[in-house]
Amino acid sequence: MAELVTQAPPGTGLIDPFGRRIDYLRLSVIDACNYACVYCVPECGIAPSLAEARLSAAELVRIAGVFAALGVGRIRLTGGEPLVRRDLVGIASAIGGLDGVHDLSLSTNGHRLDRQAAALHAAGVRRVNVSLDSLDAARFAAITRGGRLDAVLAGIDAALAAGMSPVKLNMVVMAGENDTEIEAMLDFALGRGLELRFIEAMPVGAAGDSVRTRRIDAATLLERVRAWGGSDLLPQAAPCGGGPARMFRFPDGRGTVGVISAVSQHFCATCNRVRVTAEGELLLCLGHEGGVSLRDPLRAGASDADLAAIVHTAIARKPWGHDFNDPAARDGVSPNQMLLTGG
Ligand code: 5AD
Repeated sequence: MAELVTQAPPGTGLIDPFGRRIDYLRLSVIDACNYACVYCVPECGIAPSLAEARLSAAELVRIAGVFAALGVGRIRLTGGEPLVRRDLVGIASAIGGLDGVHDLSLSTNGHRLDRQAAALHAAGVRRVNVSLDSLDAARFAAITRGGRLDAVLAGIDAALAAGMSPVKLNMVVMAGENDTEIEAMLDFALGRGLELRFIEAMPVGAAGDSVRTRRIDAATLLERVRAWGGSDLLPQAAPCGGGPARMFRFPDGRGTVGVISAVSQHFCATCNRVRVTAEGELLLCLGHEGGVSLRDPLRAGASDADLAAIVHTAIARKPWGHDFNDPAARDGVSPNQMLLTGG
């Protein structure tokens, strides 16, 4: 447990009770997805929210603006699948144009990226993370429950062609599912100058239980990467702004690889983020329930200053971290749905 530090004086941005500066928002623009990955969505599915419950484009931009004014200059658009939203380019452009936003990025399954990458880049989205869990079309379809590998690969090419940089690939590795493909993914990603991140499956949401038993931990993942590279890995400083991935590079300059070890070696101490769901709920930690609605006061006529005060109050009770490893806490499964939080 970190020590409590004195709160920074007002006007210095959002600082939580543990002294962590919150300067990064993951904003879910829609809770629907055209894929239903096995580690994210349970077999019975998750009912999407009603259209009127979701934030409108104007409401999304308004909320982003409140955070930007509070010093949150980095915003990632997430879902569900953000590209399912037809007005995404307009939303991106408006958020990218807000005062104080200096980094606008996107997390996507890549299925519709082919057609939209250039427009998104022009709208100000400069970095993109694409989920890619398999390079085998049949296995890809099975993991995503109907996804098309060729569409995603075309999306990745389009993102590169549009000038997005970096284009990162996220691979959630699960035993018996896609763990035989770690080496193939390294060949694919490093050969194309893509940044590859291996992600430990997190026990989050309704699919969480099934995930827990199939997780491959970061130490094992790194062993496989080392064996593939035939040499040791050099730890690399996190890029500016930091992220949860521990980064490594090969000494011969073949590229960088990251590992996101949310479970086996959590990184809560350096947490710099909050999330807003597509229904406008501010979530303080992926591993905890208990969000605060921004949508309801916004629709009731709250001013930007009112909303900023609500955000401040919420941040003041941001939990220290998740308890994925605590079997007493709902068997270690977080109640949040990845489909709603966008990871
Ligand atoms: N564990 C780890 N990563 C997950 N993602 C979705 N669900 C999980 C989970 N249970 C990943 C997606 C995507 C990113 C936003 O989050 O694969 O790359």
